[in-house]
Amino acid sequence: MKRAVTISVNGVSHTTEVEPRTLLVHFLREDLGLTGTHIGCDTSHCGACTVLLDGRPVKSCTVFAVQAHGREITTVEGLEQDGKLHPLQEGFMAEHGLQCGYCTPGMLMTSVAFLKKNPKPTEDEIRRAISGNLCRCTGYVNIVKAIQHAAATLQGGG
Ligand code: FES
Ligand code: FES
Repeated sequence: MKRAVTISVNGVSHTTEVEPRTLLVHFLREDLGLTGTHIGCDTSHCGACTVLLDGRPVKSCTVFAVQAHGREITTVEGLEQDGKLHPLQEGFMAEHGLQCGYCTPGMLMTSVAFLKKNPKPTEDEIRRAISGNLCRCTGYVNIVKAIQHAAATLQGGG
């Protein structure tokens, strides 16, 4: 039996019905068409599905859509504001922080929450923060640089 839910996604409220077994990642991708949130595994390991739930990063393949009822979700589509990319998106472009880009939405969402908590991170702290996000392409060096780039921009008020 379906359940009624109201979930705010990127500032837009959605009231709909979902099956209790529907995962948040499937709700976002299939019901709302927000395919920027990726699915990279079946084991809650890869982090490609990371979104913010009330500002905290969660792997949306481990959350049921009904658990997001009454809460605020931010996906990668919500980072750009008024046509301007988020400093982290700019950082990933400037430092070539991606190759295939599959892991990138999850990396971005984890990093957004991390830099809010820790605006001046060390390299070790960055590496620890993204340890739940797997990249199969880059070797992480440029991802770390991209996050450092964004931290510098944000500290400069950008
Ligand atoms: S798809 Fe969610 S952790 Fe891999
Ligand atoms: S850029 Fe390809 S998986 Fe990270």
